[in-house]
Amino acid sequence: MAVLDLRNLPEFTADPYPYYAKLRAEGPVHIVRTEDMERIWLIVGYEEGRAALADQRFGKDWRTTGRWEASEALLSANMLELDAPHHTRLRRLVVREFTARRIEALRPRVTEVTGQLLDAMEARGSADLVDALAFPLPMTVICELLGVPDIDRDAFRTLSNGIVTPTREQRDADPAGAMSDYLVELIAGKRRSPGDDLLSALIHAADEDGDRLSSAELVGMAFLLLVAGHETTVNLIANGVRALLDHPSQLALLRAEPELIDGAVEEMLRYDGPVETATFRFAREDVRIGSTVIPRDEAVLVALASADRDPARFPDADAFDIRREPQGHLGFGHGAHYCLGAPLARMEARIAVAALLERFPGLARDPSGGEPDWLPGLLMRGVRTLPVCW
Ligand code: HEM
Repeated sequence: MAVLDLRNLPEFTADPYPYYAKLRAEGPVHIVRTEDMERIWLIVGYEEGRAALADQRFGKDWRTTGRWEASEALLSANMLELDAPHHTRLRRLVVREFTARRIEALRPRVTEVTGQLLDAMEARGSADLVDALAFPLPMTVICELLGVPDIDRDAFRTLSNGIVTPTREQRDADPAGAMSDYLVELIAGKRRSPGDDLLSALIHAADEDGDRLSSAELVGMAFLLLVAGHETTVNLIANGVRALLDHPSQLALLRAEPELIDGAVEEMLRYDGPVETATFRFAREDVRIGSTVIPRDEAVLVALASADRDPARFPDADAFDIRREPQGHLGFGHGAHYCLGAPLARMEARIAVAALLERFPGLARDPSGGEPDWLPGLLMRGVRTLPVCW
């Protein structure tokens, strides 16, 4: 089987969709090579990708294979890097605290923070939408939810970016080690003086319940929630607004019928969602998909971005159509690891995009904004800046 070499392929990072279309036409599974790994099995078809996400033969806990070394051990004690029964246990403990009520209670605050960010933006003549809205909104919300103090947020952003979408220099600086140290301190502080936040609640739950979260599990949980809670939503807002600005008729439709916002956000997740591939899985045994056998212990990625453009599942899949109602898209994953934060992410994106369009009737890309700076790597899809004017 031919190997698609993604090293030094900036065209792929800028627009992977034509590559995915070509791969899908050839078959549902391919081998790719990246900067970090010689050989990854990439699943590009919708049906095959969805099935793989729910398939117990694909595991997530690298420590159970002889072949892979788990690095950043402290941060790895999180549910996204574990399988049942450990995964089930951790997920149950946090789900109990991450209730619909706790999320819904955030609505007024999400609206308020959005309004404040738009006020600050309006006071200027143009802005980078990532810096002005898409980043600070989810960052503020997840930090307030978990109880990360204001003063730590800039440092936290640098560490988090360094782990999820590292530049070369950041890779060398051990952001994971610094992040562990930071979270150990934060949790120790909350143990001493608990607040009215989710992290304190998780410590408390761990202390009062027969089934406790260990200190390492608390660090892993805080890490996962903080990072998953803002690195993704920023790109949903920015990619979504990019899609609207690139499709003026869809933008006009949403302005004319603001009640379409819920479906529009679903279409943003399908058309150009923030998570390009799901996180790594490995084959616990030889797994056959179509005529291809993925050998035991090898690394597997499901290309969510490709699955969601599969014309066998979504007619006219490359069209951005906010009336489409794309039920079953894989933007939040599928199966046991389905995104825990989906209701929060949806609420933030709906509020942010609706308020942005209402506030700026003349919103457009800033023509002096230059070429987009795409996030590196396969995991995240997005831009570092989105210059706009109005
Ligand atoms: C638009 C925003 C978001 C997108 C597109 C997104 C996407 C995803 C995807 C695709 C997965 C599954 C990964 C896999 O199976 O490999 C996932 C898992 C997860 N997400 Fe999100 N996410 C978003 C926002 C959030 C937020 C706001 C939070 C938390 C506050 C969050 C917390 C989590 C957690 C904890 C998991 C792991 C669940 C598990 O292992 O059982 N996500 N997310």
